[in-house]
Amino acid sequence: MPTIKILQKRYHSQINELDFSILLAHAINKPREFLYAHPNFPLSAFAYARLRYFLFHYKRGYSVAAITHHKEFYGLNFYVNKDTLIPRPETELLVEEAIAAIKTPPSRGGSGGCWLIDVGTGSGCIPITIATHLNCHPERSEGSLSQSGADRDSSIAKLPQNDSLKIFATDISKSALRVARKNARIQNVSINFLHGNLLEPFVKQINTATHQHRNTLTIEQLNNQTIIITANLPYLTPIQFEAEPSIQREPRSALVAENSGLALYEKLLQQISHLSPSVISTTRSLRSVQAPEESLAQSAKRTEIPLRGIARPRRPRDLTRNDKLKMIIFFEIDPSQTQKISSLVKTYLPLASIEIKTDLAGRDRVVKINLTLP
Ligand SMILES: C[S@@+](CC[C@H](N)C(=O)[O-])C[C@H]1O[C@@H](n2cnc3c(N)ncnc32)[C@H](O)[C@@H]1O
Repeated sequence: MPTIKILQKRYHSQINELDFSILLAHAINKPREFLYAHPNFPLSAFAYARLRYFLFHYKRGYSVAAITHHKEFYGLNFYVNKDTLIPRPETELLVEEAIAAIKTPPSRGGSGGCWLIDVGTGSGCIPITIATHLNCHPERSEGSLSQSGADRDSSIAKLPQNDSLKIFATDISKSALRVARKNARIQNVSINFLHGNLLEPFVKQINTATHQHRNTLTIEQLNNQTIIITANLPYLTPIQFEAEPSIQREPRSALVAENSGLALYEKLLQQISHLSPSVISTTRSLRSVQAPEESLAQSAKRTEIPLRGIARPRRPRDLTRNDKLKMIIFFEIDPSQTQKISSLVKTYLPLASIEIKTDLAGRDRVVKINLTLP
C-alpha cells in the first residue's frame, strides 16, 4: 500500500493541498500533524479505500466538510451532514459581535440577565459557540438546579452555569435540529432547541411557560432581560444560488429566499415588531397599547402573517412603549442587501438604530439593530 509521501506526490497537482491533507488524515483517522511527522507511514487497504471513496466524492463537487462531516468554526469542531449548512467563516463576525454585546453592559447590567435566541440555527454553530465562550455548561448537580428554581420539565432550558444567560435556538428543519442538538451535546452546552417558523416556537414556549411553569419563565423575568436575537437565515437569491457551483450540494432551503433574498428577514422583523406586546399582553391592558386611529381588524389586515400564540396583531411602534425590554438583533446579510435590509428595519422597527459591520474583506456582512429605551 502507498505511503503518505507517495500519495501526497501523486495527488499534488490534482487537488488543493490543504483539502487533500484533511481527507488523507481523515482516511487514516489521525490528526493532520501526523502526516508531516510520519511521511513513510503506509496506508492500510481499508484506509486507502476510504481515501479513494473521499476523493470520488470530492471530484463530484462535495466539500471537504461534507465528506468528513466536520467543520471547524470559531475554533470549535462541528458535526455537519446533508441537512445543515456548513458553517462559514463569514458567520464568525456575527458571533464575535453577539459575544461582545452580551458581555457589554447594559445587557448584563441591572437586575436582569440576557436571553439569546438564534433563529435558523442549522448546525447550531452560532449559539453553541457563544455558549461555549460564555461558559454556559449545564449544572452538574440536580440538587443545585432545583435550589436555583430552574424548571424540572426538560422542555424548558435548564439553568446554565452562566445563569444570567439563557439560550434558545429555532429551526424549521427537524433534521437540522437533530444535528444542532448533537453538537450541543458534544460541546456540553445548555441550549433550548425549538422547532418551528422563525420566532414562533419561542413565543409559544414563553406563553406555555407563563401559564404552566410560573416558577421559571415569568413575564417579570423577561421584562428585566436584554433579548439578543441572532440570525443567519437563507439570504441568497435563486440566481445567486444557481451561479455558485460550490454550494449546489448544500440544502437549497438553507440558502435561498424570495424577495431579493430578504423574505425571511422581513418575516422575522415583522415577528419581532410583535414580540413585545405578546410578552406583556397579560400584564397590560390590550386597549392601552392599541392605536386609537387603527382598528384591530385594520391592523390585522395590514399585518400579513400574525404569529400563532399571540393574542392580537400590533402596530410596530408598540414595541417602544415597553420601557423595560431591550433588544439587540444581529442579521448576517449579503453585501448587496444593505440598503434594502435597512429600509425593512425602518419600516418594522422605526425607532431602532442600525449599524452595519464589515467583514475582513471590508464588505457589509452583519446588521446590528439596537432597540434602546425611549
Ligand atoms: C443559512 S442557514 C444558517 C445555519 C446556521 N445558522 C449557520 O450560520 O451556519 C439557514 C437556516 O435557517 C433555517 N430556516 C429556513 N427557514 C426558516 C424558518 N422559516 N424558520 C426557522 N428556520 C428557518 C434553515 O433550515 C437553515 O438551517
